[in-house]
Amino acid sequence: MAQFWRPGSARPRASLIDDEEGGVLFLSSPAPSSSSGFGYSSLERQRQRLPVFKYRDAILYLVENHATTIIVGETGSGKTTQIPQYLKEAGWAEGGRVIACTQPRRLAVQSVASRVAEEMGVKIGEEVGYTIRFEDQTNPGVTMIKFLTDGVLIREMMDDPLLTKYSVIMVDEAHERSISTDMLLGLLKKIQRRRPELRLIISSATIEAKSMSNFFQNRKKVLEHFAMDSVPNQLPAIVSVEGKGYTVDIYYVEEPVSDYLQTTVDTVLLINEKESPGDILVFLTGQDDIDAAVKLLTDATHDDKKRSSGLLILPLFSGLSRVDQDLVFAPTPRGKRKVVISTNIAETSLTLEGVVYVVDSGFSKQRFYNPVSDIESLVVAPISKASARQRAGRAGRVRPGKCFRLYTEDYFLKEMAADGIPEMQRSNLVSCVIQLKALGIDNILGFDWLASPPPEAMVRALEVLYSLSIVDDDVKLTSPIGYQIAEVPMDPMVSKMVLSACDLGCSEEMTTIAASLSVQSIWVSGRGAQKASDEVKLRFAAAEGDHITFLNVYKGFINSGKSSQWCYKNYVNYHAMKKVVDVKEQLCRLLRRFGLALKSCEQDTQILRKAIIAGFFANSCYMEEYSHNGLYKTIRSSQEVYIHPSSVLFRVNPKWVVYHSLVSTDKHYMRNVIAIDPSWLIEAAPHFYQTRSPNLALY
Ligand code: CDP
Ligand code: MG
Repeated sequence: MAQFWRPGSARPRASLIDDEEGGVLFLSSPAPSSSSGFGYSSLERQRQRLPVFKYRDAILYLVENHATTIIVGETGSGKTTQIPQYLKEAGWAEGGRVIACTQPRRLAVQSVASRVAEEMGVKIGEEVGYTIRFEDQTNPGVTMIKFLTDGVLIREMMDDPLLTKYSVIMVDEAHERSISTDMLLGLLKKIQRRRPELRLIISSATIEAKSMSNFFQNRKKVLEHFAMDSVPNQLPAIVSVEGKGYTVDIYYVEEPVSDYLQTTVDTVLLINEKESPGDILVFLTGQDDIDAAVKLLTDATHDDKKRSSGLLILPLFSGLSRVDQDLVFAPTPRGKRKVVISTNIAETSLTLEGVVYVVDSGFSKQRFYNPVSDIESLVVAPISKASARQRAGRAGRVRPGKCFRLYTEDYFLKEMAADGIPEMQRSNLVSCVIQLKALGIDNILGFDWLASPPPEAMVRALEVLYSLSIVDDDVKLTSPIGYQIAEVPMDPMVSKMVLSACDLGCSEEMTTIAASLSVQSIWVSGRGAQKASDEVKLRFAAAEGDHITFLNVYKGFINSGKSSQWCYKNYVNYHAMKKVVDVKEQLCRLLRRFGLALKSCEQDTQILRKAIIAGFFANSCYMEEYSHNGLYKTIRSSQEVYIHPSSVLFRVNPKWVVYHSLVSTDKHYMRNVIAIDPSWLIEAAPHFYQTRSPNLALY
């Protein structure tokens, strides 16, 4: 069992502060006397008790008078749910105008939108709506406050480059520096020059307000034909909302932990045993380890009746169904202690009331891209100090709390990076480049970035776009394919695969495959019976691989009349399948709009695989003759990779494969794999393989 100690308690060491800047997390402020009666007051009273309420008039004044307002405030202070309502109350949604609030995460969009609808006493999709990819819950002409992902707002610019329907755009969670947020900030700055009446709000928990302010300080003159009195001050305003977080005591492990999952479980049990009532929030990395931890914890409490009493164990991650989300946010039943095991979505985007204890694994899943090997993968990587502080802060919401860090204090002080790296600088830029090009921005390195992307990554992206025939020799989008791909709201490689399927006559099947790839997983995991689920999976498994297997599952689901019973029996995720049906429908609608016909190849899997390769030829791998243990190498960079255990080709190990994505833990694992004939690669992308042919000569 991990040993924790608390800085400031009995340990004969000099430095007892939380971080080198000397900042303990929060200064405690007196508890509002009514805080214990939180559940009993009206929503209106709750709204007025939020820290941001005191700043209501100041914020409205600044937004009125400044083109850009930067708002920094503790998570949970009411920025996301309140500010859009204040703006509406002040008239910013009058005359058919709309107030937009962007979030980097889809789940956050849904969750805050329903909260705001509830506070306003309206039905979601009417005055308050939201839009995420493949799901639009708005009513044009009626919706006044619209929550959306920053990616969706960028897409809206393709139809309406100046985003004319919005009066105020609030870019929320800006500190996360997602790739879409960074793109959006640069694009909005451009729009501001053409629309001086547009108001921007940049809000976040920990933003570097000064550099953001410098970025938005518009030195270029705004268009002259606007009367000067209608033009707001171009100097950004900054508001800092004082939080009311309580003190959080930090505990570190004495020795580095070797198995953070097991230590997490032990720590939760320890808290449950030793600490007073209060919910526990655990930060792990992704659905896989969250499912594993839920299972370990369920098993551990199952054995021991006494300890099990009271623990309500709930997962929280992006792909979670609506029903499960509601469980997480529902008040903890009397006599129970909620344990929410979450990705970093609960770090700043969502507030869980009632959390008093935080267990921080010190890791999160992050996208990393290596332009040399041209490999992008999701990697379990250490978080930054800024994240660690945010995570700890979640424990101080209702009363003083405790944070248990599963790393040593030494590690925190000496090794943890101060801040994370913006996603822009660790991503494959293919999608980003194609979207900017579609918006008419050709010189992408010359774009006004908050922080420039690495030039090598840019060169790589252009190379891929060229090989996919999305850009031509002059690096312009090709017509129609380049423009069509830019319009499909999916990864360009997936879009290319779908459009090629239209040419090859297998679009009916390919839209199903693309839709299946758009959900986290169509399989249920973590229900315990791994062996049983693997056996059931075999019934659907296609020898060609996962993509073709999706078609079998989809067929079974449709034939069952889209039955949830059927899904349960077959370890298929019902919510994911409903989503697949929905995404497929939208994709088909888009293809029809392009004037492309839907055709079936009657499951001719060779044609299907060729269409997949048309998009994914760059992800090809082969297994060497003498290879053991399922070791593959990528053709483009001889990177060592393995087939993920969730794939139907795991242990089958065909000689040549193409994968959809890589997940990296101890090794690089290929997720969603199909077996191919290598001659198809040269057929599909002769230009791409010309320079890398030595490996292809192997077959
Ligand atoms: O954006 P910020 O982190 O500043 O706060 P917020 O998300 O606007 O949350 C303000 C309050 O609304 C918190 O007390 C949340 O607990 C509550 N809230 C909620 O109860 N349910 C939601 N889905 C979202 C927020
Ligand atoms: Mg927020």
